[in-house]
Amino acid sequence: MRVFNFSAGPAVLPEPVLQQAAAEMMDWHGSGMSVMEMSHRGKEFIGIADQAEADLRTLLAIPANYKVLFLQGGAIAENAIVPMNLLAGRTTGDYVNTGEWSKKSLKEAKKYCTVNIAATAEDKNFTYVPVQNTWKLTPGAAFVHVCTNETIGGVEYQWTPDTGDIPLVADMSSHLLSRPVDIAKFGVIYGGAQKNMGPAGLTLVIVRDDLLDRALPVTPSAFHWKEQAAADSMLNTPPTYAIYIAGLTFQWLMIFPVLLLQIIFNAGLALFVSRLGAKVHDIRQLIPYIMRIWMYGSAILYPVSFFAERVHGWQLAVVEANPLLIFIELTRHSLMEGITLAGPPGRLWIEAVIWTVLVGIGGYVYFWRGEKGYGRG
Ligand SMILES: Cc1ncc(COP(=O)(O)O)c(C=O)c1O
Repeated sequence: MRVFNFSAGPAVLPEPVLQQAAAEMMDWHGSGMSVMEMSHRGKEFIGIADQAEADLRTLLAIPANYKVLFLQGGAIAENAIVPMNLLAGRTTGDYVNTGEWSKKSLKEAKKYCTVNIAATAEDKNFTYVPVQNTWKLTPGAAFVHVCTNETIGGVEYQWTPDTGDIPLVADMSSHLLSRPVDIAKFGVIYGGAQKNMGPAGLTLVIVRDDLLDRALPVTPSAFHWKEQAAADSMLNTPPTYAIYIAGLTFQWLMIFPVLLLQIIFNAGLALFVSRLGAKVHDIRQLIPYIMRIWMYGSAILYPVSFFAERVHGWQLAVVEANPLLIFIELTRHSLMEGITLAGPPGRLWIEAVIWTVLVGIGGYVYFWRGEKGYGRG
């Protein structure tokens, strides 16, 4: 039996992700290898990394002028890597101190720059985020650093600071991917993967490309964002298996757009039924019709598709079954209730078939895009 693991360290991963990884352990997609055994320069792994980046970009709506780096070292290493990469020609880093992780960041940064504590919540034992109009920012600072979710103290930003021209740097280790983020308001976002994305060993850095020219000359190549960006994060051997698992998690998270698909589907269905309503002789004939559609379409299939996916990874079958079942129900009712339709014979059927096919194609394209589409499992 699997246990529920709410720990802040390496945390629970979605079961379908683990199942897919288990199924692909010995032989990834007919390659004859486990992902762990692949060359990071081979086409198989490059495909995995590219897909992971593309999915992450979709999930977080990362603008094109931001680089996504898959590095190593964890968020603790980034505490040093951030100042090293941003201090050229500047001497000060501004830090907002909201608890344990902010303290660790600024302690490390003191080795590289003058640290200005722009604001601190120490007076109330780090139980709040100081409002921005109390922050004392340094004009010309290299960056402003925040920890947007203090994992130990539990203090989380519910707003995004505005630091003007000074790049905002955020440690988002413990809540990245738990909510939409307006990436464009940040210069740099970083975090270890092990809480929300995948196994420990992968560090995600999202950096605006105009900040890539600010590294101190002493910055080690493996941690030099510009050099890593130029090498597609493969200047050294990247944490290949961790990237692969994170990629599976991204695909799993992308199931949320299914809800959108369902909403579009239901809206289309409502439109279809309302058009149908204009054609039947008595609108009351439609009542059982509509009741059944919503009963199947929303009350049962909607949550079933959601939970089946969450628990078993079965979403594809159910998403496809959804329009199909409704089509069957429509047909059955039209026969049973003897609803006669104006217009050319079979119009209802044709419309239902077209709608079913369209939704089916949508689901197919979404889930089976490329070889690694989530629905494969
Ligand atoms: C907000 C935050 N920053 C930094 C870290 C340290 O990350 P790592 O252990 O990956 O270096 C953690 C958790 O461990 C964290 O929750």
